[in-house]
Amino acid sequence: MSKSSRPADGSHRGEERMTERARLRLPRDPAVVGTALPGSAPGQQPNGEANRLLPEDRPVHQWYRFVLSFPPHLVREYVQRFALGASHRVLDPFCGTGTTLVECKKLGIPSVGVEAHPMAHFASQVKVDWTPDPDGLVEHAAEVAEATLAQLSREGIHDDLFRSNSAISPKALRTLPPETARLLLANSISPLPLHKTLVLLDCLRRRADVRHRSHELLALARAAVFAVSNLHFGPEVGVGPPKADAMVVHSWLSAVHTMATDLRIVRRLPDVEAQVHMADSRKIARVVEPYSIDAVITSPPYPNEKDYTRTTRLESVLLGFIRDKAELRALKAGLVRSNTRNVFRVDDDDTWVAGHAEIDRIARRIETRRKHLGKTSGFERLYARVTKLYFGGMARHLAELRQVLRPGARLAYVVGDQASYLRVMIRTGRLLADIGHSLGYEVMGIDLFRTRLATVTREQLREEVVLLRWPGGKASLGG
Ligand SMILES: C[S@@+](CC[C@H](N)C(=O)[O-])C[C@H]1O[C@@H](n2cnc3c(N)ncnc32)[C@H](O)[C@@H]1O
Repeated sequence: MSKSSRPADGSHRGEERMTERARLRLPRDPAVVGTALPGSAPGQQPNGEANRLLPEDRPVHQWYRFVLSFPPHLVREYVQRFALGASHRVLDPFCGTGTTLVECKKLGIPSVGVEAHPMAHFASQVKVDWTPDPDGLVEHAAEVAEATLAQLSREGIHDDLFRSNSAISPKALRTLPPETARLLLANSISPLPLHKTLVLLDCLRRRADVRHRSHELLALARAAVFAVSNLHFGPEVGVGPPKADAMVVHSWLSAVHTMATDLRIVRRLPDVEAQVHMADSRKIARVVEPYSIDAVITSPPYPNEKDYTRTTRLESVLLGFIRDKAELRALKAGLVRSNTRNVFRVDDDDTWVAGHAEIDRIARRIETRRKHLGKTSGFERLYARVTKLYFGGMARHLAELRQVLRPGARLAYVVGDQASYLRVMIRTGRLLADIGHSLGYEVMGIDLFRTRLATVTREQLREEVVLLRWPGGKASLGG
């Protein structure tokens, strides 16, 4: 790691701070963590539990999390292996809900995240903001809850499942503007829970306190998805049986209390920088300073048809991040093309991998199989194209990334093999390593993180960590 990144007071103080953190940190059972660590015994971890959130990791990580986000213990593993400390700066260019950033902050390591989805960006930003006074947060939330319950009570509505609200006329319930409502997955939230949520949002707006507002809204996002809505994750988002009613205010208050409890723990740690930018990581040099990054620990999208705008649609709409189709389209345009729902006619990221023999071969196989099987839907026709666009987008990202890396920077990219496109195997990790190599990175290895059983093919798909090193030098100037 570059010595220039060390503070003027030397790294010794940083080490002391790390020791203090080690004391303050929640207990960690190395044996438990060890079973899920990558690299140690390739091929011997056919488990679906490796990315489970360990109980001792819950503080802050649990505030709002993508289902199957990579786990904090994986971040810790690479922090250790890269020997990172307080004098380094870690980047997560696809930071999602902020696992890398939160874990780095807990460990006392400065970090920066980039995320193009406004809901995920918001979640990351809130999760690294440990400034709110926990008592003040709880007190303010209690006032908002009281005002909301009073308003609901005036309308004859209870937030208590032991008292029926069946006499309430559907016409009396608040709804979203039609154009916004159309963005939601059908029946993802029932009318009465939606009404209660909108009343709570209104009270939050009217009684807004800047010190607590963001945390209260993130708590609402969590409550809306996991307690109030009809959504379920398996791991893809789906709509389950409709709940006629749900406890909205109480679920929200409980999420706020969890935050306050966690804040009481983490606020004892010394403050450490954690920035989050809302930007496209294919243009990362626009937001991250040149030569400022010592390590990257990230999990980018995979070419697997997962649509991050869909899995987060309810909370993105409720919190006002997406209000109409045009905003949804603009959001999608800023994401790496990892699913056929966000492919646009003008896309040209594939030019970044033009002539890559293996990617060409995969695309041809997908297309040949599609024709052979007589698959003609608009999405199926895009399978070959999205595969090229995905790897092209990642190549574009890795090329631009070189400008912000310090020579010697170490990178860990967690990606999974995929067979979503007509069962044609895509070895994502191997291809990414190959692209990295062609851009001047050194490939340090590919660790096995875990394997997953593909539901269609019954094959074990590898989820891997691609390890790269940026040597610095001329390639940082090239395209
Ligand atoms: C696998 S998830 C990351 C999950 C993350 N590790 C966490 O802790 O939640 C990939 C993320 O990349 C984001 N993303 C996709 N394309 C992007 C782009 N071009 N620039 C920045 N972020 C992007 C997605 O919105 C998604 O949040």
